[in-house]
Amino acid sequence: MSARETIGALVLAAGKGTRMHSDKPKVLQELLGAPMLRYVYTALDPLFGEGIWTVIGHKAEMVEQAFAGEDRNFIHQTEQLGTGHALQTAWDELVESGLTHVLVINGDTPLLPQPRLINFLKESLTSNADIGFMTLTLPHPGLFGRVVRHLGDVAAIIEAKDYDEGLHGPEPREINAGIYLLNIASVTPLLKRLSNENKSGEYYITDLIGFAVEQQMTVTGVDCGNDPHLLGINNPAELVRSESLLRANLVMEWLDQGVTIHAPEYVRLGPRVTLEPGAVLHGPCEIYGKTHVSRGAEIYSNTWIKDSNLAEGCVIHPFSHLDGATVGKDCSAGPYARLRPGAVMEQGAKVGNFVEMKKSVLGVGSKANHFTYLGDTEVGTGVNIGAGTITCNYDGVNKHKTTIEDYAFIGSNTSLVAPVCVGKNSLVGAGSVITKDIPENSVAVARSRQKNLPKKC
Ligand code: UD1
Ligand code: CA
Repeated sequence: MSARETIGALVLAAGKGTRMHSDKPKVLQELLGAPMLRYVYTALDPLFGEGIWTVIGHKAEMVEQAFAGEDRNFIHQTEQLGTGHALQTAWDELVESGLTHVLVINGDTPLLPQPRLINFLKESLTSNADIGFMTLTLPHPGLFGRVVRHLGDVAAIIEAKDYDEGLHGPEPREINAGIYLLNIASVTPLLKRLSNENKSGEYYITDLIGFAVEQQMTVTGVDCGNDPHLLGINNPAELVRSESLLRANLVMEWLDQGVTIHAPEYVRLGPRVTLEPGAVLHGPCEIYGKTHVSRGAEIYSNTWIKDSNLAEGCVIHPFSHLDGATVGKDCSAGPYARLRPGAVMEQGAKVGNFVEMKKSVLGVGSKANHFTYLGDTEVGTGVNIGAGTITCNYDGVNKHKTTIEDYAFIGSNTSLVAPVCVGKNSLVGAGSVITKDIPENSVAVARSRQKNLPKKC
């Protein structure tokens, strides 16, 4: 980029996405747990920083909400009259921002690889293009806009619905990817000419290409072969096709970094997940959000993990579900563990099968091995929690806290009715319902005495 060019980016994201058959706007549809638009921003942010605008319209408030706190420039297109109209809606703001060029990208093209974007910008700028755009050549061009060339030079883009072989010649397999670089000064007079007299009754951004050619402007179609990363997403089948591609790419990248991934074809990793070399995963498993897995941690099959931190040497056994959990060094969880937001396991702690933790800390070396619920609970060091222990943290209105101090021993099938504290080194007899605090070094038994009566025959 030379010093005289100021390039911004405009994401078109106002459309309904009718073909997704969903209540969510299309750009919020998720691939590996992150919305489509997030990926577009990930590609654009490092290049354009604050110079990114997004046209939103259909369910705009949901889109704004999804990116709240990020200081994004949103432009509202109140009626969705087509991609050309979306551009017209944003135009004045782009001009007033002093841009010389704008990269326009359809918000439904989330996998755009950044190196490809950089090459495209370079190629369009070095050819001094008034309009540059990316093209693909596909065996089945489907509903994409057709790129018409005369003697190799771009003549127009004709939308699939409007393509007439009689009028436009044999149908080309070269299509428009929906990513453009527009010279603002050149395009300004063309924008007014857009009309909606076509099969869709919409204003098409793609008509600008024909207008520019008519005006003998420089139009560069940058050939991107058949790169599947550039395919737009319009329906559920295309969504999962792109998601599969992304999944395979991400897994491959982590394998190359030195993470051991068994059955990699069945492993799904979100884009913000970080794995250290030496972490071990067993497919099938799913890891999303801001999860971090340290070296030597091992995650077995059929686990689902989100926004969790897994320290060195910990083991997550099959069928466990972790959301917002912190698992310390050398801990072990599962099989069938459920760690909900705020669950913290400190070094060497253990939770076994059918144990649920929520907003609770299990201290160093403490164990809850079978059928337990720990909610709003603080457990100290070296505590043993017997099978079937339940913290009764909710009285129907408020949540209350349970404290179990160091080295306490909770007998099986105990209910701890919060707020309550089990003192250090104390023991609770099996089957107790504990409603009062237990001092240190005590034995508490709270169950009816057993009677043995003679049997009447
Ligand atoms: C568009 C192109 C087509 C190209 C394809 C590439 C047009 C007319 N056609 O078709 O040539 O091959 O992309 O994927 O542009 N949008 C708005 N406001 C609107 C309408 C749409 O912001 O009023 C946004 C949508 O949210 C979407 C993007 O523009 O992110 C593209 O719209 P879409 O309807 O998906 O266009 P395609 O039919 O795929
Ligand atoms: Ca599309």
